[in-house]
Amino acid sequence: MEIIRDVQLLMLGKLAFMKNIWEPSISFVTLQSPWNSSTGLINKVEAAGIPVIDLSYDYDLPSKIGNACQAWGFFQVINHGIPSNLRRTVKVLVKEFFDRPLEEKGKVKRDEDPILVPAWCEFEDRELRELTSQWAAGFPECRSVLEDYASAPELALGVGCHKDGGTLTVLFQDSVLGLQIQRRSDDEWISVRPVPDSYVINLGNGMQAWTNDKYWSAEHRVVVNTQREKFSIPLFFFPGHQVNVKPLDELTGEQNPPLYKEFSWGKFFVPRNHGHFKNLNFENIQIDHFRASDNEDGPYNNSQSFSLQRDSQEQTSLKTLLNSDIRLMGSLDSDFVLEPEHRPNLNSADEAEGVPLIDLSLSSAQTRETLLSEICRACRDWGFFHVVNHGIPSNVRDRAMELAKWFFEQESEEKTKVRKDEVSLMGYHDGEYTKNVRDWKEVFDFFLQDPTVLPASADFDDGEVMILANRWPLNSPEFRDVLERYAKEFENLAFRLLELISTSLGLPADRLNDYFKEHTSLIRLNYYPPCPQPELALGINRHKDSGALTILFQDAVGGLQVCRRSDGEWVSVRPVPDAYVVNLGNSMQVWSNDEYWSAEHRVVLNRERERFSIPFFFLPAINVPIKPLEELTSKEDPPKYREFNWGKFLVNRMLGDYQNLKVEDIQMDNFKVEP
Ligand code: OGA
Ligand code: NI
Repeated sequence: MEIIRDVQLLMLGKLAFMKNIWEPSISFVTLQSPWNSSTGLINKVEAAGIPVIDLSYDYDLPSKIGNACQAWGFFQVINHGIPSNLRRTVKVLVKEFFDRPLEEKGKVKRDEDPILVPAWCEFEDRELRELTSQWAAGFPECRSVLEDYASAPELALGVGCHKDGGTLTVLFQDSVLGLQIQRRSDDEWISVRPVPDSYVINLGNGMQAWTNDKYWSAEHRVVVNTQREKFSIPLFFFPGHQVNVKPLDELTGEQNPPLYKEFSWGKFFVPRNHGHFKNLNFENIQIDHFRASDNEDGPYNNSQSFSLQRDSQEQTSLKTLLNSDIRLMGSLDSDFVLEPEHRPNLNSADEAEGVPLIDLSLSSAQTRETLLSEICRACRDWGFFHVVNHGIPSNVRDRAMELAKWFFEQESEEKTKVRKDEVSLMGYHDGEYTKNVRDWKEVFDFFLQDPTVLPASADFDDGEVMILANRWPLNSPEFRDVLERYAKEFENLAFRLLELISTSLGLPADRLNDYFKEHTSLIRLNYYPPCPQPELALGINRHKDSGALTILFQDAVGGLQVCRRSDGEWVSVRPVPDAYVVNLGNSMQVWSNDEYWSAEHRVVLNRERERFSIPFFFLPAINVPIKPLEELTSKEDPPKYREFNWGKFLVNRMLGDYQNLKVEDIQMDNFKVEP
């Protein structure tokens, strides 16, 4: 921190800054490795490079610094007074920290030194939020050395590289070339050559605004070095959150009117800081948003209270960013990260023998026999198959997919208007857990029967029921119309498949129909956003569906995998144009007394592409007993499951899905009879 004071005092000499703007301050120390910001080749290494200033040689220091601030907004300092042994220790520790396994880096523990920042970026919102440092558990040296090094209250991981938001950044970089800045005079990108034992100082947005553009906050970036890792430790020096940033009176006048409107540092800082941690494709809030302009219709036109305009493009994305916590930068939130043994191997799903494809069109009695035996084999060996010639019109499906896309693309403010909760259970949700790991997806659910009656709790002695209604977005009547129409199509196909499956088990075609008189089926729209680390997370973790059948339409992206019954290998269920994926759920396996199979499946993610799917879960009525059918059991082949009640099972699953319970969900295996 000493160095900050020194540089600041030197600037004070030149510019007569007001002392009180620095107190209390919010600063960050950020560890960066490896550099991961914008790409670009090192095309220019300036011979002289940015100015190197010797702080121990004080002849005309203020003017040297002033010139550097004006021409470059960047300079390097030597003889800065920070002991080099301390820096070396920090560097070793930082490297050690980043070399640790990801799961460990994800687990950072809170401590008790709060600093207060505004809770939200709404300019009228006065609520404050406490931020505390997070330190790697089991790595106490890291904390103590870094605190010594910086006396800074924040340790954060990862930061983007544009113009820095604060007032000063003091950066130590190792000897790997990579930092580049844009020269003020001609916009050329110039490499900042590491000078041994120096620190790079650059001015942030705040300084540029105070000096009314006299001093410069330079655009900078780091080019990726494919051979070597690069470590750097910047310290961001920020004003207190309540400080109003605007050109200093002393530096403005008739000739030189203020170029910026006043803004409060905290309100600028909070949305920017959210921006670093959520890797969304939108521009961060920038100082330029506060530039004074004659156009009083602009989004930031009121110099007293800046209100964020909701209808501008910028605000749309900002809102999405602030409300959504599904997309994170760099390393995933640990909730999403799978245990190593459950992570997908993105290259090796075996596709040599894929799931069977069954043509449902019938032309003669002969083909009906063939069809039934194909269904029998598919249900027994896989529990998964594709169907074509299924009778669902493709125009309804296409429109449903378009509307699903429309729905998920909305601002999260809109989506959360129909958010599901423990009371309504249907609607939008983005926080599902499967096997206690968070799924990288957003969903929208609705029941086929509206309303649907379910037991009020999973407790077997509780006879109460709850009546659950669907929740539909009010801003598109078509959404509901099309999806309800699509649901009807799914339902018809489901009854047809149910009869085929009953027949294939040697039972009357309608043997199971009564179980679905008041069925509890539901349709889900699944949206899987692109994931920066698809090797660590899943769109939906391995699971078995619990009902009778699932019929699913997936787009062309792919990602669904099934665990093959014969050898337990994960096999991709490659999208087949116009086909639906059918899979059997737990209930069907129990009815068939394990003759038929309910396969585990999961969805692997894609770094670049988003994926949509629409499953229809064909679920029995609540009073239906799930137990092996008597016709399929005998003395020699006794029931493998005890009876359980569908309604209680469903409610248990639905309430379990809702949060990350530290227990396994109730599973069909809970009712398995021990041999
Ligand atoms: C599910 C499911 C698969 C997919 O929602 O239960 O398995 O491809 N979805 O979206
Ligand atoms: Ni599923």
